[in-house]
Amino acid sequence: MPPETLLATLAVLITGLFYLTHNRTGLPRVGGKGPIGFILTALKSLTSFEELINEGWHKYGGKPFALPTMAGQVVLVGPENVDLIRMSDDSVINQPISIDEGLQIAHTMNPRQQALPYQAVVTRTDLTRAIGSFIPEVVEETNLSMAEAFSPKPGEKSATVPLFETMVHLVARISNRAMLGTSLCRNETFLHQVIQFAETLVPYAQLLLWFPRFMRAPLYFLMSSAFGGPKQPIKTLLPHLKSLLADREKGIESSRTISDFLINHAPPEEIANPELLAMRVLNLNFGSIHTSSIFGTHAILHLASLSPSDLDGIRKEIIDALESEGGYTKTSLSKMRKLDSILRETGRFYALGYVGLLRLLIKPLTLVDGTVIPAGYNIGVPTRPIHFDPTVYLDPETFDCFRFSNLREKEESDVKHGFTTIDKDFILFGLGRHACPGRFFASMELKIMLSHLLLHYDVSLPDGAKEVPRPMVFASAVMPNPKASVVITPRVGQPGQEF
Ligand code: HEM
Repeated sequence: MPPETLLATLAVLITGLFYLTHNRTGLPRVGGKGPIGFILTALKSLTSFEELINEGWHKYGGKPFALPTMAGQVVLVGPENVDLIRMSDDSVINQPISIDEGLQIAHTMNPRQQALPYQAVVTRTDLTRAIGSFIPEVVEETNLSMAEAFSPKPGEKSATVPLFETMVHLVARISNRAMLGTSLCRNETFLHQVIQFAETLVPYAQLLLWFPRFMRAPLYFLMSSAFGGPKQPIKTLLPHLKSLLADREKGIESSRTISDFLINHAPPEEIANPELLAMRVLNLNFGSIHTSSIFGTHAILHLASLSPSDLDGIRKEIIDALESEGGYTKTSLSKMRKLDSILRETGRFYALGYVGLLRLLIKPLTLVDGTVIPAGYNIGVPTRPIHFDPTVYLDPETFDCFRFSNLREKEESDVKHGFTTIDKDFILFGLGRHACPGRFFASMELKIMLSHLLLHYDVSLPDGAKEVPRPMVFASAVMPNPKASVVITPRVGQPGQEF
């Protein structure tokens, strides 16, 4: 590279860095001062995110403050502002642009995803309406995939499996049964490619954010060529999507899978270019694989630590529900209140991380306490003060599997404490117009997976341990411990095996 080009590149990088790290919010900022302080605090946030939030919270008396992170600066506001965020539309407190920028969707997927977000519309409408019809397929795929994943080696009674890795694979396979049908969901090459796409997207995006915009496209091209990106799964998906489109040309209409629903909503230019359609399938895979596998893993680790009598109580409720409805249906799943409670408690206790409701301010925002945050900043709400509020949750530091099923019994309200019910005290799925539309599918899939697991297998922590392994924390994300394994023993001749 000629010296003048090198100097010009360095000048752009340094100017960009000063711009990125300068605090123009007028609010206090946690961590060190100036660009170096920003970079050191952002690096610290990778391992000590919670500590930095607590530091800002106590130092600034619960008032909003700015926090440098590896994804740029975020202004943290108190839980009293949750309703303000819930009720706002995208013209003031914008969610799509914030996701676009945070995940660098223009590079990691394509700019069409948020400009015309019909994958969210499909999830909210067709997919949610069709949940009942997906149940038999999800049950069958759960049955087959768990039999493969949990079979003990010949001559052994139990299998010890690395849980998170196994759940990612199971969720990818079972979700893609509904997304694409039997052949692709059992195609190991496709599953590997789609998991790799979902796993690399966030780290790629965080790295891109540190570079000026003009460098991001070539940088993403280099990274994804070296470590994998959407190209590989798109190549595997294309023949399937082309054959669905060819069937439609011949007048053979289908509405069996989520990709059929996507085709029904796709604009002509995406029908003419199935690579664009394939990216929608990848987008939904990205949104569903990790979220559901994270929650499934946390929940199974807690189930594995329960006493045999608690587990039998959950099994009895599952069997009663299935017997009363003649098998898996939307109604029988809704009767599994103990499983539902474990999922909601998992969401309360771990959430997806330390910050929720990330949004970008399009216009200046006046908070409940009168503080004004200028336009152009990302805001978020710390999840802990909400999900661990002792005035809402009794003994919040305790993980209580039956917290919500007990409340449902006491209050005789069947909706209020359900896994998919969102409110200002439970922000796992976000709030307002962008609240997760996939939560009903996730709940159906996770309840089928957990109930099948409990009826057909005994699950315990290795060496008789009763303590759930500590979760892994990276930046603001809280994930199950990737090293945690469980011992799985097939239950033979026990009640409930017919389901
Ligand atoms: C336990 C599992 C899941 C969790 C915890 C979760 C969480 C979230 C969260 C926090 C948001 C952003 C909400 C906001 O900012 O207000 C979101 C959005 C979204 N999720 Fe999920 N999700 C899950 C499963 C799924 C599944 C299975 C699908 C699809 C089948 C899905 C599709 C979407 C879509 C399309 C959006 C964007 C909605 C919009 O922008 O209008 N999610 N999800």
